Amino acid sequence: MKKINVGIIGCGAIAESYYIPALSNHKDKIDRVYFVDRDLSLANNAKRNFGSGEVSDDLDKIIDKLDAGVVCLPNTLHYSFSKKLLEAGCHVMGEKPLTLKPENGRELVEIAEKKKVLLSVNNTRRLFPSYQVVKELIDDGSIGEIKEVYYYEGGEFSWPTKSGFYFTAADPKGVLLDRGAHVLDSICHWVGGKPELIKSQNDSFGGPEAVADVTFKFKDLVGEVRLSWLYKQENVYRIIGTKGEITGEIYDWNKTELKLNNKSSEIRRGKQKVDSFSEFGNILVTNFIESILGNEELIIKGKDVIDSIEWLEECYNEAKPFETSWYSI
Ligand SMILES: NC(=O)c1ccc[n+]([C@@H]2O[C@H](COP(=O)([O-])OP(=O)(O)OC[C@H]3O[C@@H](n4cnc5c(N)ncnc54)[C@H](O)[C@@H]3O)[C@@H](O)[C@H]2O)c1
Repeated sequence: MKKINVGIIGCGAIAESYYIPALSNHKDKIDRVYFVDRDLSLANNAKRNFGSGEVSDDLDKIIDKLDAGVVCLPNTLHYSFSKKLLEAGCHVMGEKPLTLKPENGRELVEIAEKKKVLLSVNNTRRLFPSYQVVKELIDDGSIGEIKEVYYYEGGEFSWPTKSGFYFTAADPKGVLLDRGAHVLDSICHWVGGKPELIKSQNDSFGGPEAVADVTFKFKDLVGEVRLSWLYKQENVYRIIGTKGEITGEIYDWNKTELKLNNKSSEIRRGKQKVDSFSEFGNILVTNFIESILGNEELIIKGKDVIDSIEWLEECYNEAKPFETSWYSI
């Protein structure tokens, strides 16, 4: 069996906590891992954690060695680095959001098709067993026609970013891009398409927004998303249909609750129990490697997330500030 060479492009927080442990489980299928970071000390740390490999401060210097690349860079770099990898004939696992602009996402999908390589993306919540149950319950009509969707997520920003790009990017985008890349994608996936934006509001005064609200409609349903990096919320989703509703805690990823209008209520669990967040890294990386080897189909394809990228862009383009009546007194 041919072993593959994999590049980790960006050796920051997600590479360290998610991809390196996951790749460590596949040493029998990997010939060499290349750790690329403009900060060589981080690339060297990553190599030490993995136990072997090569380091570089520049993808261009090692790209000809790679069969696949995992793009763990700040969001503004996803498109250009993924494009470079795909054009060089490498399979790509992208971090979310796949790209900032939907046309760039579509272009990556096209290049991957043309080059006959794989393009996957870590929209992790598609792997949550509870979210897969939600999708099944919606699709099999258990709650009837969906009328309302609510998704509330909030907590203090505490992710251990190495570069701090979340707050320092030249074109700063905050919680809507960070959490919203997951949330809007989950909603598109559940309802089966891109909702129409009714209203988008956030608290940006030029910097990255820390609070964002989005209201939307899709066919006969209306919905609301509330996101915050500043304050705690319930962290729940609720989908109400004509026959019942589905509710769940976002990070309680093994179960969801189905309540029917006749008052019966039951807990539904996914097929697979997942004990820790990093296990999703293993599921994703295993699927990526097995798909490269021709043994599996990608669970999350790049093209699956284009609707949500388009919706995210609309939310930013249409965003209005929250009412701040005290400023006009
Ligand atoms: N799917 C998820 O749940 C999840 C969770 C966390 C982060 N992420 C995503 O992962 C990506 C990385 O986030 P992070 O928190 O690990 O960031 P980070 O700041 O910790 O790491 C980014 C790394 O990229 C390196 N870098 C920056 N510019 C570079 C360049 N031009 N060439 C080479 N290296 C460069 C930095 O030195 C840094 O080490 C982001 O897109 C983020 O959205 C996804």
